[in-house]
Order: sequence, then C-alpha cells, then structure tokens
Amino acid sequence: MMNLGPKALLQVAASVGFGVLFLLFMLPPRLTAEDRADAPAGGQEPAAVAAAPAPSAAGPGGEAERAALDAARNALGAETPAFLKGPYLQNGGPKRMTVMWESDVEARGMVEYGRTRETMTGFALAPLARKVQEVEIAGLRPETTYFYQVRVGRKLSDLQTFATYPEGAGKPYTMLVYGDSRSFPSTHAAIVRKMQAEDGLFFINTGDMVKVGSSYDAWRTEHFEPLGDMGARRVLWPVMGNHEANSPWYFTFFSVPGPGTENYYTFSVGDAKYVVVDSNLPLAAGSPQITWAEAEMKGSTAKWLIVIAHHPAYSTGDHGGYPLVQAALVPLLEKYRAALFFQGHDHNYERLEKNGVTYVTAGGGGARLRGATADAKDTPWSKKFAMAHHYCVVSIAPGAIEGVVKGTDGKEIDRFRIAR
Ligand SMILES: [Fe+2]
Repeated sequence: MMNLGPKALLQVAASVGFGVLFLLFMLPPRLTAEDRADAPAGGQEPAAVAAAPAPSAAGPGGEAERAALDAARNALGAETPAFLKGPYLQNGGPKRMTVMWESDVEARGMVEYGRTRETMTGFALAPLARKVQEVEIAGLRPETTYFYQVRVGRKLSDLQTFATYPEGAGKPYTMLVYGDSRSFPSTHAAIVRKMQAEDGLFFINTGDMVKVGSSYDAWRTEHFEPLGDMGARRVLWPVMGNHEANSPWYFTFFSVPGPGTENYYTFSVGDAKYVVVDSNLPLAAGSPQITWAEAEMKGSTAKWLIVIAHHPAYSTGDHGGYPLVQAALVPLLEKYRAALFFQGHDHNYERLEKNGVTYVTAGGGGARLRGATADAKDTPWSKKFAMAHHYCVVSIAPGAIEGVVKGTDGKEIDRFRIAR
C-alpha cells in the first residue's frame, strides 16, 4: 500500500525519527493463528503490506536503500523466536510473491530480498506482532529469481530463493501436480524429494494434505515437515479436500486470490488459466461457486483452461466418479473446452479421456494406495490406471501440454500430450 522511494524513506525516517515505520505498524490488526482457529472459515485474509521498494535500477544495494533497511530492522522487536513453519511461498505472480511463516511467539518480522545475495536490500514488513505472518512483496520483475530471507525480531531464517512467473502468453514453463499426501509423512517426503529434483515453477496439491484438518499438529507433521524446503522455493497452490474439512487452519496457512473466499480461486500463468474448485461446497447450478466458475471459464482468453477439484468427475478407483461433480462441472469443461481436469480423492494415478477433456487423478502423494474397482462404470474412458505413489510433471506451451507421471522410484508411469 505504500511505495516510498528509498531516498524519500530515508529522509522521512531521519526527519521524524521512525514515524513512517510507526504509521506502518498502525495498520489494521490481523488475527493471530489462535484467533483464526476460532474464526469462521472461508474469510479472505488481507496480505500484509509491502513496505519497501525493490532495489532501484539506479543502485541496488545503494546507501539509501541500506539505510532504509537498517531502520526497518532496528524497528523490529528483540525477540529471538523459532520458526515453526516456513518461510514458505504463496500466491505467486509475474510481479508479486507472498511469503508466510509461523514463529513460536508473536513477533514482528520482515522479508528481505534482492536479485543477488549481496543486494538483498528490498524489504517488506509484517507490521504487527503475530505468530502466523503473511507478507506480500510487490513490484518484482517477471521471470526473475530472487534471494530472500525472513527476519523475525533478531532471528533470521535460512536463505531461500523464489522465481517470479512469466508475464503474458507465449512463455513455456513446467509445473508439478500431486495430491492426497496425508497420513504417511515418510511417503509424502519421498515424493517431495523426487519433485524437488524436477523443473517446476510451482506445484498443485489436489487436496487431502492432512488426515484431520482441524488438528494443528497434523499440519506440521503431515504437510509442512515433509515439504521441507520445497514450500520455501516454489508456491504451493492448494485445493480443499474432504479431510481438510473446511478447517480454519486451511485458511490460516494458505493465501490464495479468492473472490471473497479462499475456498475457490483462479490464477493464470503463461498460456494457462487455472480454476480451482472446492468440490465439498454445494455444486448445484446457480450456486455461488458454480456461477463464479462458469463466469471464469467463459471469460478465459488463455489458450489452455485447467480445472482442479478434489473429488473426481470420472474414476475407476475406489471411490469412483462423483455424480455431483459430473453434473456441475463436466458440462462446463466440455462447453468451454477445458484441456485438463486434475482430481484426487482416489489414492491412485489415472488418466481418462472423454469428449475432448483429459481427466487426471493425482491421488498418490502419500496416503495408502487403493486399487481399481473392477466393474467401475467409468472404465471405458480410462486410458491408464496405476496403483502407485506418484507425481505429475506438466509442461505448458502455446502449442501443447505434455505430462510425464513418475513414481517414487523415478520411473515413468504414464505420459500424455494434448495439442490443439
Ligand atoms: Fe479425499
């Protein structure tokens, strides 16, 4: 919300003490994690303020920027907290990134960033003392790698990097999809180690990240600890599963660009528009989410439309396809020519093709595997089924989408190509 130049910031700080920083700290209060645990689910959390400019072209790491950075550091508290989660990334874009973390005491903090280790003079402040922090960095350059570090009180996080997304169409990239990563952290961690070795600008989890969404400890043991540095270096775009159960922790720990709710949202990268649906919500025609989803699909100008929900539309797996998902979403997928529908819930890999839409079940992220249901009605559409833990490497280019699906041993399970 504020965009003072480094010199102006220094002059203001010098003339009125740290008045400008005081003003930043007077921003509206934000709930702590504990507060939010009691808050009604589904509320959109405003991102914290981006308080400092990116290093200027005239002199990244220059004297004025360093002085402004020092002033901001000095205005933090004297705590030396432990990082309980993160830092980790959310809600990335060509020119923006959100950094989140949880510390063990309520403390103010800031993200320091720059294009090299030596020029990390950009900073964004979390103005209030709290445990779970969410800080937006704005004004970044597209397709650029940044170094960053979080400072909370007197404590520094590990040095990490993030990459901003390409801006506009025509820029190929790769992303990763997996899901149902709950309940078996060592299996989840094994999948994550394989994904970390892959190219991938961001990753999508199709839902059921924890067994019990209302359990604070489950988020640490089943999600954040197995993710390790993966979440610090690439944005995870989450999908609400039935095991998350609309828990306030989901809304506490994730930040997505929802339309007034974080249950469902869209984002666009390169030639693809992603529409994330919460299949636990009412799916009737005319319901708020379905009305919103149709408007988003209808209005899409991207070459590729990719829709994601937890419950499968079609599946020969244990649960099978969900009639409500079929009724609500399949007509939209076909009408607006969606290329892909990623789904989870069934703990297997499957690719099905029907009426020009490719359905991919990516439900082998850690939970106990389940086999196919032999007489499933959706079998005619199934092109590949594998009872295996896995992840999908998906390359998005203007002319084609290419997917390679791999198991925990790194071996290829499936490969698909969608060209139009
Ligand atoms: Fe599920």
